[in-house]
Amino acid sequence: MLQEEIWNADVAAGYDTPGTGMFASEVLDPTVDRLAELAGGGAALEFAVGTGRVAVPLAARGVPVTGIELSPPMIDRLREKADEATIPVITGDMTTAVAPGRYTLVYLVYNTISNVLTQAGQVACFRNAARHLAPGGRFVIELWVPELRKLPPGQQATVWHNEPGYIGLDTYDVLRQQVVSHHFRFDEGVRAELFRSPHRYIWPAELDLMAQLAGFELESRHADWSGAEFTAESRSHVSVYRLPPED
Ligand SMILES: C[S@@+](CC[C@H](N)C(=O)[O-])C[C@H]1O[C@@H](n2cnc3c(N)ncnc32)[C@H](O)[C@@H]1O
Repeated sequence: MLQEEIWNADVAAGYDTPGTGMFASEVLDPTVDRLAELAGGGAALEFAVGTGRVAVPLAARGVPVTGIELSPPMIDRLREKADEATIPVITGDMTTAVAPGRYTLVYLVYNTISNVLTQAGQVACFRNAARHLAPGGRFVIELWVPELRKLPPGQQATVWHNEPGYIGLDTYDVLRQQVVSHHFRFDEGVRAELFRSPHRYIWPAELDLMAQLAGFELESRHADWSGAEFTAESRSHVSVYRLPPED
């Protein structure tokens, strides 16, 4: 299934959940604080900007933000919140699309590098980020840690979240390094709604190697946007890669 088919008008219409989930201030405030700090007074480029969940509050903080995004319906939703002058968006694939200008920060959040399903495509994301950055510029990735330690031989699925009305379940293909995420939503009735999305999972060490191929060094890795220590038990990470500064 193509990303363009997944991020269709229906999905775009239901994406925003103002004040809750990924739109809760507990999630967004630390994200925007950290990105504003990492932009260091320069301009930022968001790969896969979506409906502007992060770009809109970051721009409101005074950071000039440009986006690259594949899905026109997601961009339409962004346009309900910010016009082209406030957040310019290039419609295209973040592995290849070019945005005008030079940036101090490129960021790719909410596990979205894993939406690119090949290793070559994920490396191309890093190379495309490097192409847009000034010397010393940073590329920030937020990504989940694949739950490979939870998979005994013969088991292909993990339940990564379970709460009333929602179950998140991933099925792993460890040979092809692919995951399909299943999001089940239900109420009192017997039927559930299911949203599925394919991903290529990446262990942090492979991500660092992709960064190296594009000329980056790992500057920091934390378990969240507030700077919690990244440990063997961390379920996610915020990794900051940096290009060498000008000589
Ligand atoms: C989980 S949403 C994240 C959106 C936004 N960054 C956020 O944090 O809310 C994933 C987005 O990535 C976009 N996307 C997926 N693959 C892409 C690609 N190769 N190039 C550009 N956008 C892509 C989808 O259209 C969708 O809008």
